[in-house]
Amino acid sequence: MADLGFDGKVAIITGAGGGLGRSHALDLARRGALVVVNDLGGAVDGTGSGTTAAQAVVDEIKAAGGEAVANYDSVATPEGGRAIVQAALDTFGRVDIIVNNAGILRDASFKNMEPDKVEAVLDVHLKGAFFVTQPAWEHMRGQSYGRIISTASAAGLFGNFGQANYGAAKMGLVGLTRVLAVEGAKYNIKANAIAPVARTRMTEDLLGPMADKLQPELVTPLVTFLAHEDCPVTGEIYSVAGGRVARVFLGVTPGFTDPDLTAEKVRDNFDKIRDESDYEVPANLTEELMMAMKFLG
Ligand code: NAI
Repeated sequence: MADLGFDGKVAIITGAGGGLGRSHALDLARRGALVVVNDLGGAVDGTGSGTTAAQAVVDEIKAAGGEAVANYDSVATPEGGRAIVQAALDTFGRVDIIVNNAGILRDASFKNMEPDKVEAVLDVHLKGAFFVTQPAWEHMRGQSYGRIISTASAAGLFGNFGQANYGAAKMGLVGLTRVLAVEGAKYNIKANAIAPVARTRMTEDLLGPMADKLQPELVTPLVTFLAHEDCPVTGEIYSVAGGRVARVFLGVTPGFTDPDLTAEKVRDNFDKIRDESDYEVPANLTEELMMAMKFLG
């Protein structure tokens, strides 16, 4: 089969001045996409800003014969999000792909999770995805084409100590992804989420001896496929690290049904309620409701 090409497609990649975003930008550009390399250029905790990081990736893309433009706006404000999308429209005339990748860390145990840590992290990861995706949405609807990939995390999907803010923001992106999948369906807009692990400045002190096997370049192939015209799925979540790709899904057990439910019946049937055999994977709220209705007869 032919390689996956992106000729003429315009991709916005947020936080692409380093780490995972840089790797995604280089691969999409190498495959013919016209890329907006967005990066605020601050520190891992979100403080500071600068133009060097995004510009260096644009230089790298251009040196390899690709086309890209740098943008230094923050994803964390509505004006920033609009400016990022406008950069794509002004430079390349359209927008086809958004990779919501910009991110920061402000870890603390829940006991010590101060409001500024919650706000800053929700602003960049979760609201940032809203602020960038929404101005692009009308263009994607108008052209009946769009691919949106949002960067979630196992910290939200499965839980991780010290990351209540980050985990909540990342799981919020899953909710956003699923609603965009429903609303985008009739416009050929597909939205999916990834939960990556890779050695970047964000994780270099955390991964220990495994770090050498976890290059960002081993996450990017999944992003590239989900960004492509041939992407067969929407509303889904994939775990990706070190060259392994796996699907993560929300399953619902058959459960226990009783039209005269009491707390005691819940207690007495709790093993059945939790029994994972014969689970189903609803694609949306309607499918989940239909499952519940099926048991009501
Ligand atoms: P990174 O720190 O190298 O990349 C994040 C980039 O986002 C930085 O270049 C930063 O300047 C930029 N950024 C931060 N705030 C911004 C804002 N307001 N506007 C625009 N750009 C902004 O770290 P990494 O690891 O490449 O992270 C990329 C994404 O992957 C993040 O969303 C992160 O949470 C997520 N992730 C990474 C994992 C890993 O193992 N590296 C694990 C799970 C998720």
